[in-house]
Amino acid sequence: MSKIIITGATSGIGRELAIQLAQKGNTVGLIGRRLERLEELAEEIGDRAYYRSLDVTDFETANVVYQGLADEMGGMDIMILNAGVGRDSLLPKWDSDKQTIDVNVSAFVHGAHFAFTYFRAQNKGHIVGMSSIASHLSSGRAAAYTASKHFISNYMTGLRQKANKLELDLVVSDIRPGYVKSEMTEKNKNMFWVATTEKAVRQMVTAIEKKKKRAYITKRWWLIATIARLTPQFVWDRLKF
Ligand SMILES: NC(=O)c1ccc[n+]([C@@H]2O[C@H](COP(=O)([O-])OP(=O)(O)OC[C@H]3O[C@@H](n4cnc5c(N)ncnc54)[C@H](OP(=O)(O)O)[C@@H]3O)[C@@H](O)[C@H]2O)c1
Repeated sequence: MSKIIITGATSGIGRELAIQLAQKGNTVGLIGRRLERLEELAEEIGDRAYYRSLDVTDFETANVVYQGLADEMGGMDIMILNAGVGRDSLLPKWDSDKQTIDVNVSAFVHGAHFAFTYFRAQNKGHIVGMSSIASHLSSGRAAAYTASKHFISNYMTGLRQKANKLELDLVVSDIRPGYVKSEMTEKNKNMFWVATTEKAVRQMVTAIEKKKKRAYITKRWWLIATIARLTPQFVWDRLKF
């Protein structure tokens, strides 16, 4: 059984990951800003849950919190970097883009650095990054979001290369969901192939257990990734979405 820290565990995918991974006997460390949600979830899971309230963009505090949580759990085998934000149409454009870059890019990299350093010291570990099918797409409506997910997937390839060079026993899993029901998508009317949180997370847990390098969730989103990869740049340049 593993000791697993999950960022963004207060709702949606992260919350369900905590529940399903704990049901399988793993110990889970829950992170998010909403303390009352963390308390409720920890109570629902029981003895195997630990938690800390944290804004992952507060980098100085984050290092202390990640280390403290790992210590409290008696170690860490897997870190799931899941916290993320979508486009916030209520914020002015720059504020929304800045928030996306702060959380999805800067805080992701910061968490990945913590995990890499931790796992390097014990020469063993598993980093799971929550990318998206958006890592293959571009969108005028969510340019910062799609770009942030390109960044995350590309960064994880770099992490794998770094681990190879250092001959570390480190697995890096790049999870690429299509549409999944969650708070992030609840107001999005233009969705298709929407998976329930339970189903999507079941497939994610299998991918994590199998130590997959990358996984499309649900599996058929692989088709969209392939079409996107084959689409020439001049077509992307002309699209209106
Ligand atoms: N749902 C989809 O269709 C879909 C598809 C592809 C990829 N994803 C990715 O999956 C991940 C989870 O999204 P979701 O759909 O489950 O959305 P969600 O229900 O909105 O969950 C987002 C989580 O991120 C946390 N978070 C956001 N900003 C944070 C911050 N500054 N500090 C700490 N935690 C923060 C939130 O916790 P607090 O608000 O409590 O801090 C929450 O637990 C994201 O990375 C998202 O990009 C989702």
